[in-house]
Amino acid sequence: MKKLLIFGILCMMAGLALPVAVAQQPEAPADGFKMNKGGKKEVIFNHSTHKEQKCVDCHHLVDGKEDYRSCTTAGCHDNIDPKDKSVNSYNQMIHKKKGAKFQTCVSCHETVAGDDKEKKKALTACAKSKCHP
Ligand code: HEC
Ligand code: HEC
Repeated sequence: MKKLLIFGILCMMAGLALPVAVAQQPEAPADGFKMNKGGKKEVIFNHSTHKEQKCVDCHHLVDGKEDYRSCTTAGCHDNIDPKDKSVNSYNQMIHKKKGAKFQTCVSCHETVAGDDKEKKKALTACAKSKCHP
Protein backbone atom coordinates (compact mmCIF):
# COMPACT_ATOMS: atom_id res chain seq x y z
CA MET A 1 0.00 0.00 0.00
CA LYS A 2 2.78 2.38 0.98
CA LYS A 3 4.65 1.51 -2.23
CA LEU A 4 1.54 2.24 -4.25
CA LEU A 5 1.19 5.63 -2.57
CA ILE A 6 4.79 6.55 -3.33
CA PHE A 7 4.31 5.40 -6.93
CA GLY A 8 1.22 7.59 -7.16
CA ILE A 9 3.07 10.61 -5.83
CA LEU A 10 5.95 10.02 -8.27
CA CYS A 11 3.49 9.86 -11.18
CA MET A 12 1.92 13.14 -10.11
CA MET A 13 5.35 14.76 -9.87
CA ALA A 14 6.29 13.50 -13.33
CA GLY A 15 3.00 14.84 -14.69
CA LEU A 16 3.77 18.25 -13.22
CA ALA A 17 7.39 18.25 -14.31
CA LEU A 18 6.64 17.50 -17.97
CA PRO A 19 4.80 20.72 -18.93
CA VAL A 20 7.47 22.71 -17.09
CA ALA A 21 10.24 21.05 -19.13
CA VAL A 22 8.40 21.77 -22.39
CA ALA A 23 7.68 25.37 -21.41
CA GLN A 24 11.43 25.97 -20.96
CA GLN A 25 11.88 26.40 -24.70
CA PRO A 26 10.83 29.98 -25.41
CA GLU A 27 9.21 31.34 -28.56
CA ALA A 28 11.70 32.50 -31.17
CA PRO A 29 11.55 36.31 -31.25
CA ALA A 30 10.43 38.43 -34.20
CA ASP A 31 12.74 39.03 -37.17
CA GLY A 32 15.07 41.99 -37.52
CA PHE A 33 17.53 41.48 -34.66
CA LYS A 34 20.45 43.84 -35.22
CA MET A 35 23.88 42.32 -34.65
CA ASN A 36 26.58 44.96 -34.70
CA LYS A 37 27.97 45.16 -31.18
CA GLY A 38 30.97 47.42 -31.60
CA GLY A 39 31.29 46.48 -35.23
CA LYS A 40 31.02 48.65 -38.27
CA LYS A 41 28.80 46.38 -40.28
CA GLU A 42 25.31 45.77 -39.06
CA VAL A 43 23.81 42.37 -39.76
CA ILE A 44 20.12 41.70 -39.54
CA PHE A 45 19.40 38.27 -38.10
CA ASN A 46 16.04 36.69 -38.83
CA HIS A 47 14.73 33.61 -37.04
CA SER A 48 12.20 33.03 -39.83
CA THR A 49 14.95 32.29 -42.38
CA HIS A 50 16.57 29.77 -40.01
CA LYS A 51 13.56 27.57 -39.31
CA GLU A 52 15.31 24.54 -40.83
CA GLN A 53 18.07 24.89 -38.25
CA LYS A 54 17.78 23.51 -34.76
CA CYS A 55 17.54 26.04 -31.93
CA VAL A 56 20.48 24.29 -30.28
CA ASP A 57 22.68 24.88 -33.34
CA CYS A 58 22.92 28.50 -32.21
CA HIS A 59 21.58 28.44 -28.65
CA HIS A 60 24.20 25.83 -27.86
CA LEU A 61 24.36 23.77 -24.69
CA VAL A 62 25.74 25.44 -21.59
CA ASP A 63 25.92 23.12 -18.57
CA GLY A 64 23.87 20.63 -20.58
CA LYS A 65 21.02 23.03 -21.35
CA GLU A 66 20.11 25.06 -24.44
CA ASP A 67 21.00 28.66 -23.71
CA TYR A 68 18.64 31.42 -24.79
CA ARG A 69 20.45 34.30 -23.15
CA SER A 70 21.88 37.04 -25.32
CA CYS A 71 25.16 36.09 -27.06
CA THR A 72 26.86 39.01 -25.30
CA THR A 73 25.80 38.02 -21.78
CA ALA A 74 28.67 38.80 -19.38
CA GLY A 75 31.19 35.95 -19.46
CA CYS A 76 29.89 34.62 -22.80
CA HIS A 77 30.73 36.23 -26.15
CA ASP A 78 31.00 39.66 -24.57
CA ASN A 79 34.36 40.82 -25.95
CA ILE A 80 33.40 43.17 -28.77
CA ASP A 81 36.98 44.05 -29.65
CA PRO A 82 37.20 42.82 -33.27
CA LYS A 83 40.87 41.89 -32.74
CA ASP A 84 40.17 39.50 -29.88
CA LYS A 85 40.50 35.86 -30.93
CA SER A 86 39.35 34.19 -27.74
CA VAL A 87 36.20 32.15 -27.21
CA ASN A 88 34.65 35.28 -25.71
CA SER A 89 35.02 37.19 -28.96
CA TYR A 90 31.69 38.28 -30.47
CA ASN A 91 33.36 38.66 -33.85
CA GLN A 92 34.80 35.12 -33.77
CA MET A 93 31.48 33.68 -32.61
CA ILE A 94 30.03 35.04 -35.83
CA HIS A 95 32.89 34.61 -38.32
CA LYS A 96 35.23 31.79 -37.23
CA LYS A 97 35.34 29.35 -40.13
CA LYS A 98 37.07 26.34 -38.64
CA GLY A 99 37.76 24.83 -35.27
CA ALA A 100 35.02 26.50 -33.24
CA LYS A 101 33.47 24.29 -30.57
CA PHE A 102 30.00 25.16 -31.85
CA GLN A 103 28.89 26.24 -35.30
CA THR A 104 29.40 29.91 -36.02
CA CYS A 105 27.22 31.89 -38.43
CA VAL A 106 29.85 31.66 -41.16
CA SER A 107 30.96 28.06 -40.53
CA CYS A 108 27.39 26.88 -41.03
CA HIS A 109 26.87 29.16 -44.03
CA GLU A 110 30.00 27.64 -45.62
CA THR A 111 28.57 24.16 -45.14
CA VAL A 112 25.20 25.25 -46.52
CA ALA A 113 26.81 26.84 -49.60
CA GLY A 114 29.07 23.86 -50.35
CA ASP A 115 30.45 24.15 -53.89
CA ASP A 116 27.77 26.60 -55.01
CA LYS A 117 29.76 29.77 -55.75
CA GLU A 118 26.74 32.06 -55.89
CA LYS A 119 25.52 30.79 -52.53
CA LYS A 120 28.97 31.07 -51.05
CA LYS A 121 29.13 34.73 -52.02
CA ALA A 122 25.61 35.38 -50.75
CA LEU A 123 26.19 33.69 -47.41
CA THR A 124 29.86 34.22 -46.57
CA ALA A 125 31.15 37.35 -48.31
CA CYS A 126 32.17 40.48 -46.39
CA ALA A 127 30.37 42.71 -48.88
CA LYS A 128 27.48 42.43 -51.33
CA SER A 129 26.22 39.39 -49.47
CA LYS A 130 22.98 38.69 -47.66
CA CYS A 131 24.75 39.44 -44.38
CA HIS A 132 26.56 42.58 -45.54
CA PRO A 133 24.59 43.97 -48.49
C1 HEC B 1 20.87 30.35 -36.79
C2 HEC B 1 20.97 30.70 -35.38
C3 HEC B 1 19.73 30.64 -34.52
C4 HEC B 1 18.77 29.67 -34.49
C5 HEC B 1 18.69 28.39 -35.30
C6 HEC B 1 17.83 30.07 -33.48
N1 HEC B 1 18.21 31.26 -32.92
FE1 HEC B 1 17.27 32.26 -31.41
N2 HEC B 1 18.62 33.76 -31.53
C7 HEC B 1 19.71 33.79 -32.38
C8 HEC B 1 20.41 35.05 -32.21
C9 HEC B 1 21.67 35.46 -32.95
C10 HEC B 1 19.72 35.77 -31.22
C11 HEC B 1 20.07 37.14 -30.65
C12 HEC B 1 20.90 36.88 -29.40
C13 HEC B 1 21.37 38.14 -28.72
O1 HEC B 1 20.53 38.85 -28.14
O2 HEC B 1 22.57 38.41 -28.72
C14 HEC B 1 18.60 34.94 -30.81
C15 HEC B 1 17.68 35.28 -29.82
C16 HEC B 1 16.71 34.44 -29.35
C17 HEC B 1 15.85 34.74 -28.23
C18 HEC B 1 15.84 36.04 -27.47
C19 HEC B 1 16.90 36.09 -26.43
C20 HEC B 1 16.95 37.48 -25.80
O3 HEC B 1 17.92 37.75 -25.13
O4 HEC B 1 16.02 38.26 -26.00
C21 HEC B 1 15.03 33.68 -28.05
C22 HEC B 1 13.96 33.53 -26.99
C23 HEC B 1 15.35 32.71 -29.09
N3 HEC B 1 16.37 33.21 -29.87
C24 HEC B 1 14.70 31.50 -29.26
C25 HEC B 1 14.97 30.61 -30.30
C26 HEC B 1 14.23 29.36 -30.52
C27 HEC B 1 13.09 28.84 -29.67
C28 HEC B 1 14.80 28.76 -31.61
C29 HEC B 1 14.39 27.47 -32.30
C30 HEC B 1 13.00 27.39 -32.69
C31 HEC B 1 15.87 29.63 -32.06
N4 HEC B 1 15.93 30.72 -31.26
C32 HEC B 1 16.69 29.35 -33.15
C33 HEC B 1 20.08 32.78 -33.24
C34 HEC B 1 19.38 31.64 -33.52
C1 HEC C 1 23.27 25.91 -38.55
C2 HEC C 1 23.37 26.67 -39.75
C3 HEC C 1 23.28 28.18 -39.70
C4 HEC C 1 23.77 29.01 -38.74
C5 HEC C 1 24.52 28.65 -37.46
C6 HEC C 1 23.47 30.35 -39.16
N1 HEC C 1 22.82 30.34 -40.36
FE1 HEC C 1 22.23 32.00 -41.42
N2 HEC C 1 21.43 30.78 -42.83
C7 HEC C 1 21.42 29.41 -42.81
C8 HEC C 1 20.65 28.91 -43.94
C9 HEC C 1 20.38 27.45 -44.29
C10 HEC C 1 20.20 30.05 -44.66
C11 HEC C 1 19.36 30.08 -45.92
C12 HEC C 1 20.32 29.90 -47.09
C13 HEC C 1 19.64 29.97 -48.43
O1 HEC C 1 19.53 31.08 -48.98
O2 HEC C 1 19.25 28.93 -48.92
C14 HEC C 1 20.72 31.22 -43.92
C15 HEC C 1 20.50 32.52 -44.32
C16 HEC C 1 20.97 33.64 -43.68
C17 HEC C 1 20.77 35.00 -44.12
C18 HEC C 1 20.01 35.45 -45.38
C19 HEC C 1 18.52 35.42 -45.13
C20 HEC C 1 18.09 36.59 -44.29
O3 HEC C 1 17.46 36.37 -43.24
O4 HEC C 1 18.37 37.74 -44.65
C21 HEC C 1 21.36 35.81 -43.18
C22 HEC C 1 21.43 37.33 -43.20
C23 HEC C 1 21.90 34.94 -42.16
N3 HEC C 1 21.66 33.63 -42.48
C24 HEC C 1 22.57 35.39 -41.02
C25 HEC C 1 23.04 34.56 -40.01
C26 HEC C 1 23.67 35.04 -38.79
C27 HEC C 1 23.91 36.48 -38.44
C28 HEC C 1 24.00 33.93 -38.07
C29 HEC C 1 24.69 33.83 -36.72
C30 HEC C 1 24.04 34.52 -35.63
C31 HEC C 1 23.58 32.78 -38.85
N4 HEC C 1 23.00 33.19 -40.00
C32 HEC C 1 23.80 31.47 -38.45
C33 HEC C 1 22.04 28.60 -41.88
C34 HEC C 1 22.68 29.03 -40.72
